[in-house]
Amino acid sequence: MKLDEFLRLNAPDELGALAMAVAKSSLTVWESIPFKSGMVAGVNPSGERQKAIDVFSNDEFAEALAATGAAKEIASEEMEEPVKAKGSISVAMDPLDGSSNVETNNPLGSIFGFYSRSLPASGRSLVGALYVTYGSMVTVTLSFGKGVHRFVAVRGPAETSFELMGVNIRLPERPEVYGVGGSRREWVPAVRDFVDSLEGRGLRVRYCGTFVGDYNQVLSRGGMFAYPELVNRPQGKLRLLYETAPMAYINEQAGGYASDGKRNILDIEPKTLPEPSPAYIGSADVVRDLEKAVSATSG
Ligand code: AHG
Ligand code: MN
Ligand code: MN
Repeated sequence: MKLDEFLRLNAPDELGALAMAVAKSSLTVWESIPFKSGMVAGVNPSGERQKAIDVFSNDEFAEALAATGAAKEIASEEMEEPVKAKGSISVAMDPLDGSSNVETNNPLGSIFGFYSRSLPASGRSLVGALYVTYGSMVTVTLSFGKGVHRFVAVRGPAETSFELMGVNIRLPERPEVYGVGGSRREWVPAVRDFVDSLEGRGLRVRYCGTFVGDYNQVLSRGGMFAYPELVNRPQGKLRLLYETAPMAYINEQAGGYASDGKRNILDIEPKTLPEPSPAYIGSADVVRDLEKAVSATSG
């Protein structure tokens, strides 16, 4: 089944239009990556230098989303203010996740949260979420609250389409892999000890430095991805609205749990658009054990 047919049968019209626009534009972004890897002068609202691909993907997706007529606003980690439009859904996006990994050809991603409330808003107001993985395959993984489903880009004689690859994807029972961002010497002791305990439980490290790529393998193999609180960066790095809440929504739909170390990431009400939080996401039993370990040592 092709993506457009799946969306017609399984998604509300506005969400289907937004998801289709993102899928189509993701192919343009993917084909542009080799030509847009240089740095540009700009700095994003989180104070991070921008790459040409960050700006190009932001503009490509924002234009395609606005053109659907289904987006009320489009907020992005690459823009100070949201683009205002005429629809009913508030879209928050990380248009290119992992852009520091372009030169090394590590997996990259794009993340989208579809919110029913004006932004900033908690993950509880998500009505859908989608991430694109640019890896050995280009895949779209999405949920509109009725399970997690995946599509893969397939080049046809006339065009490239997205074909259904998996329905109702669930985290496996047994956790197998973990990946933790930042560097070990920056992790707070409770995180370091917990990571050592994961090795003791037989989990193996699988880390590529891109949130989407690192989470995508946790969804298949079970375990945990974390960008934790760091000694000098207690709020961590990943942004709730654009990165961790949409991924936590998909993860919860797949039977998992995501925490900031104290509570469910989806319950956090961000005060600002780029607000970061520590993020621990994956198999529910592993992340709940992490919460116990971290809260046992914090005030
Ligand atoms: P982005 O490229 O959208 O800023 O995201 C990069 C993030 C995330 O993808 C990854 O988990 C993390 O940065 C890695 O950060 P460090 O390089 O600090 O480990
Ligand atoms: Mn990112
Ligand atoms: Mn990004």
